[in-house]
Amino acid sequence: MVDVIFDVDTGHDDAIAIMTALTYPEKINILGITTVAGNQTVEKVTDNTLKLLDYLGCFIPVAAGLTRPIRYPLEVQPEAHGESGMDGPVLPPAKSRTLGIHAVEFLRKTLEESDRKVTVIALAPLTNLAFFIRMYPELISKIEKIEMMGGSLYAGNITEKAEFNIYHDPDAAKIVFESGIPIVMSGLEVCRKAAIPHDAMEQLKGKGKVSQLVYELLYFYCHYSRERGWDSSEIFDITPVFHILWPELFESKYYHIGIETESPAYRGMTAADFRGDRDRTKDRTEVLLDVNLEKYQERFFETIAKLEKMLKQDLSH
Ligand code: RIB
Ligand code: CA
Repeated sequence: MVDVIFDVDTGHDDAIAIMTALTYPEKINILGITTVAGNQTVEKVTDNTLKLLDYLGCFIPVAAGLTRPIRYPLEVQPEAHGESGMDGPVLPPAKSRTLGIHAVEFLRKTLEESDRKVTVIALAPLTNLAFFIRMYPELISKIEKIEMMGGSLYAGNITEKAEFNIYHDPDAAKIVFESGIPIVMSGLEVCRKAAIPHDAMEQLKGKGKVSQLVYELLYFYCHYSRERGWDSSEIFDITPVFHILWPELFESKYYHIGIETESPAYRGMTAADFRGDRDRTKDRTEVLLDVNLEKYQERFFETIAKLEKMLKQDLSH
């Protein structure tokens, strides 16, 4: 059992990542969820997170965080995630509220009080984590590792060379990658290899509350790939959770990763040092590179079916 804190910008794939973790409470104990501006404003991504948890009948503490990157402007992504940040499914308005403390204070309080190290699952721009590291460096040792979705070794998605979570706040990413906290990076390469076929997603339609929610999330989120005639789509943010649950599905290598923060063309690039003939003690970031796709896809659909059953039992009494 691993204690985790999610840091999210919910977000279609953030939502499915949270649902995945909720499905295995015997393996993942969610201490709380912090939200940050990214896919949409922090207000919208927080509301999406609360609506999701209410819809699933799950209570998990939620704390809202930074409203914009450290230096660069806020660049929300309506074309990918819609005006709400989670367009597609229509969920009832959230009844639950956030804790009323800032995300960085929630991180401080939770890590101070935890008698075990905590894994941070970072699925958004790293602004909250960067502020935490700068404000409470004495608590860095309470973080076991950061399992993050972000970065890439070669091609980007938001620009030629940068992945969105890093691009959006490269200054924050630099602080996090230089903090010394062990990082497991699910970059675009492994996410692209772990794509889920669109025709397989059809099997979720009308199969129950959870399956239908995932279907509707994916139907909206995969429009970009469908419009281009591609037959599958990445569900980026589930990859770090899958690595926690089933590390044996993945192959990885350790690299030193530098973050480009200044170049207009390459801002947000995660630059790996591929030289093998030098001091490797600086190669602290474990980069996931390959995945057993067949088993990954199997686990994906098994997880949705398991959560469906769990909720039916919960909601039945
Ligand atoms: O590049 C993919 C990342 O950007 C994911 O975390 C997705 O939610 C978006 O935030
Ligand atoms: Ca995200």
